[in-house]
Order: sequence, then C-alpha cells, then structure tokens
Amino acid sequence: MNIVRKVLVIVLVAFSLVSCKKEPEVILTPLEEKLASMTLDEKLGQMIQAERYSIDVTKIQNTNMGSVLSGGGSHPNPNTVQGWLDLTSDLNHGALSGSAELPLLYGIDAVHGHNNLKGAVLFPHNIALGATHDADLLERIGKATAVQLKATGISWDFAPCLAVVQDVRWGRTYESYSENTDLVSSLGAAFIKGLQSEGLMATAKHFIGDGGTVFDDSKNSYMLDQGNVTLSEAQIRELFLPPYVAAIEENVLSVMVSFSSIDDEKMHASKYWITDVLKTELGFKGVVVSDWEAIHQLPGSLLSQVAASVNAGVDILMEPNAWRDVLGALKRAVENDMVPMSRIDDAVMRILYVKDELDLANFGSASLDDAGDKALAREAVAKSQVLLKNDGILPLAKNADILLIGPGVNNAGLQNGGWSFSWQGESTGLNFPNATTLLAAFTEVATANGGHIYTDLKDASKADIVVLVLAEKPYAEGIGDTADLSLTGALAHEGNFDAIKQAQLTKKPVVTLLLTGRRLLVDEYLEDWDALVASWLFGTEAQGVTDVLYGDLPFSGTLSFTWPKTTDADQTSSMLPNRDMTKVQFDIGYGLTISK
Ligand code: BGC
Ligand code: BGC
Repeated sequence: MNIVRKVLVIVLVAFSLVSCKKEPEVILTPLEEKLASMTLDEKLGQMIQAERYSIDVTKIQNTNMGSVLSGGGSHPNPNTVQGWLDLTSDLNHGALSGSAELPLLYGIDAVHGHNNLKGAVLFPHNIALGATHDADLLERIGKATAVQLKATGISWDFAPCLAVVQDVRWGRTYESYSENTDLVSSLGAAFIKGLQSEGLMATAKHFIGDGGTVFDDSKNSYMLDQGNVTLSEAQIRELFLPPYVAAIEENVLSVMVSFSSIDDEKMHASKYWITDVLKTELGFKGVVVSDWEAIHQLPGSLLSQVAASVNAGVDILMEPNAWRDVLGALKRAVENDMVPMSRIDDAVMRILYVKDELDLANFGSASLDDAGDKALAREAVAKSQVLLKNDGILPLAKNADILLIGPGVNNAGLQNGGWSFSWQGESTGLNFPNATTLLAAFTEVATANGGHIYTDLKDASKADIVVLVLAEKPYAEGIGDTADLSLTGALAHEGNFDAIKQAQLTKKPVVTLLLTGRRLLVDEYLEDWDALVASWLFGTEAQGVTDVLYGDLPFSGTLSFTWPKTTDADQTSSMLPNRDMTKVQFDIGYGLTISK
C-alpha cells in the first residue's frame, strides 16, 4: 500500500469512527414534532380564545386561533341543534384550513345541561345536586351533558364549579355543591369522569379560593364575587385544594383561574398557585384558561397584564372582545423577552396535548336523547328535594284539591335561575319551550286521580291544601351578591310577599316550596307552614318535585349546606372552627324522610 493510500485509509477509518460517535438522533414525539414545526404566530394564535360574536371563519383561519367560546346566553341564530352544528363546524373548518392545521376547541358554560341551547333539558343547579350526595348520579349527568354538547359540536365545558362556598351571601352559591370540601371533591370528580368519558374537556373552576372571599360591608355589594381571600395558606389548602386534587386524579383537562385574590394578589398573576402548586406540585398536565377578561384587572398596561398572567402559568387567554389587542401584546411580550419562549412552548404543548386527548373528530356525530335526559333530570330533581318540615301533611293524596299559588307555579324561568338561556336567567318561561312547570306536573297527577288544581284565589274555599311556591329573581355571579336573605328581600321575587299573605288568609294547611339558589331566612314563617321543602333551582323537569310530594318516591335529599337563621350568616358554615350555632336554622345533613 503506498503512502497516499495508507493516509486515505486512516482518514476514512477515523472519519467513520467519528461519525459513529455522533450523538444519537433525538426522537421527537408526534406532538413535539408538531410544536417544532410551528411558527411563533401559529403558537400565539393557539393561546387566544375569542367570543363567537367577535370572530368569523376567516379570522380563525388567519390567526390560527386555538379556541372560541360562547359566553352566558351567547348562541347562533337560529338557536337550534342545526344552528349550533353549522356554527361549530364552519369555525372548525376555518381552523383546520389555517396554516397550523389544528382543530378548534369550542367552549361553553353548560353548568346544568346545555343551558344556552333553546329547548334543552336542563338539570338542577349544583346546590341541588349537592343535596343528593350521589356521585353516580353526577357521573351520569356529566355524561348526558357531554352528549348534549357533542350533538352541537362543542368540545369544552366550563364546568364543574368546585367552589366550596363558605358564605351564603355570595351570588354564585347555587353553582357550588356544598360548603363541605369532601362532598365537593367527590361530586366534582364524578361529573368530570362522566363528561370526559365522552371525549369532552371539563374545567375545574375557579382556581382557587373563590368560595372563601370576605364580605366587606363598607365597600360595594360585589366584594364577595371576584373578592379577596384572607385565610392562611394552610386553611386555603385544607378547604379549597382537595377538589382540585380529586379533579386531577380524574385527569381533568382544563382549569380556570379565579377572578378573586388571595391577600390582595389577583389569582391571574399568581405564579405560586398556578405554576408551583397546580402544575408542579399537583402535576396538572392540561391547560389553564383565564376567566372572562380577568387579566385586565391586573395592574399596569395591557402588555404587562398579558406578560404577568402568561408568566404566572395561564396557557389560554379568554378574551371575548379584545382578543386582537391581546394577541398583539402577547407577541410584543415575547419579542421584548418579557415572556420566555420556553413558557410559550409549554403553553402550546399543553394545548396540543388536550386537543390530542379529545375526540375532536367525532364532534357533531352524537344526537340529543331528550327522553333519556328528561328521565335523568327528573330523577335528579326528586333526589335533590330536601324536606325541612312536615306536620304530617305530606305525602299529598293524589285526589287532593289543591290551590297552587306563588310566583314559581308556572314559570320555567324562575325554576331554572341564572345561566339558563341567558347569562342572568329569564324572568318568564318563554324561552323554555320543552320545560314542565309545577302547574303542569301537579295537574298531570291530579287529573289522572280525580283531584283538582286551582290557581285562582277565588277558588280557595274549594281546596283542601295550599301549595305556596316562593321564588327568587334569577341572577348570576356578582349580581346575586346580597346581605339581604329574607324571603321578601332584594333578590327575592316581588310576588313572594303577597303570596305568603294570601296563603295565610285561606286558613288552609300550607305546603311551601322554595325555588331558590340559596338558603333564605324562614324562621318567622315556619309556624304558619305545615310543610316546607327546599326545591332549589331544579331545572326543566318539575315532575321530580311531584314524585316526592305525592309519595311515589321517598324524600332522600339532605342539606349540603348549613341553613342560617339570621342575616349575619357568615359564621354558620360547618367548616368553620368557631361556628355560631345560635345562627343555625337547619344544620348541614338535615333532611326529613316520610315513613308510610
Ligand atoms: C365566569 C366563568 C365563566 C366565564 C365564561 C365568567 O364571568 O366567572 O365561570 O366560565 O365567564 O362565560
Ligand atoms: C359572563 C359571560 C357573559 C358576559 C356578559 C361575563 O361576565 O361570564 O358569560 O356573557 O359577562 O357581559
């Protein structure tokens, strides 16, 4: 071998040795590959969520927007299953034809069934479901809600609310299962399990402390909603964290941040709670979404609000209106190194992960099961009725002649409360075409059994019994905050006052039903009433109420909240160390049964 060839061989051997020692190639998962292929603009678009009313197919396509929401009451026209399907599938096609080619998430507050869809079967609100103590029922309601949403192309439910409400004066009390942490944990996890079993994304909300804000009489009435928590970290962890632990065990795919603050620090800027506790300590793998325009409550310019919330760990910004400005601010924040690229990549990776987990290809393929939903809702209504007093008048005889009076007798708006057709709820029944009211439910039983139902006071003398149906005016969120818990107070229906008097004047035995989202003060009337039932905001199926009143089904509901006796009700929760029992009317767990 001549010298030239020798050198060549040596070089070749050395080269092949070097190339063999090359770093092993990094194998990316499909999701990592996807992330690596995305441009900065595509990534940022995924982090934005606008309202249906402020976007169209082209805007979704051009921005690669990751998700869209319908806020309370927001709906397409026509508000039918087909109308929803047209909307959600058009927007999804827009998303898929964007350069990132990613499907769209569509989010909505289906907090007691598909409550933005006209004519949908609606379940009782959470305060009622808490009284059932029935996790299996909650799982089935979660699944049924998922099918209702799936049938209209919706993939993301902003539910369940895991607030462990300690103060009866908060307007969102009815969105809470209980003042008891363990009960909220078990019912919330069951709902998540049922909902996500259909390939939808549930949302554990609102993280964290939303049921523990303090009431400040010196400020305005909104201090409970979106207010401030002053408890110690140990108390917050004990009272409010376990439902999130249970939700994460069910692999909940999203968490919504609370509008409220802890020690005056807004949760939307709390890196400690969102990143250190929720994501790192609890190992939450899904997406964190901000609440409705909540980041704008942070101090400073839009740029610093966006940077602070994303750096705290928010992955998706719910920006119904200002989404374009927020998208611009997010880009500037990245370009100015105010938000590190690693944070953006983490957020987008989480979005890719949840999109991959969901059954997005099959949305729109389910169909509504109205008959099944009605039966399930009726079961839930019956199980949630709590019998608070009974002087032997219940169960009612099916052939009894009954005078039905009060604002809640024939008004599906009142029996549904807030988050029903519209955000604040409806004062009439006009938008609940398929609902059954109490009048219809009583009439059905009486007619089949030779009884009569009267609704006119002039027929009072013909009746054996008066059923008095008292109600609240519908409300949602801070609009429902009140320190006036009387049955004729600020949020009570204006018809209550007359109806209470009229019932008394008949001198007949009175059975009172309360269609309320909270526990109102009944002490001064209890003597006058022979029976009292908490019927709550029970939804569209009133036969569940008559099922127990007429004794076809037993009363099995028990209070999941303490029922206060006085207005200064903040000391009554059973979770508080120094609760004041003199202020308690009915304790948590209370609920009578009827032995036949
Ligand atoms: C509420 C959330 C809700 C969101 C979207 C907010 O005002 O606090 O519970 O999910 O609006 O409608
Ligand atoms: C609610 C939305 C609602 C909006 C109306 C928000 O606080 O969460 O769902 O549509 O207010 O302004």
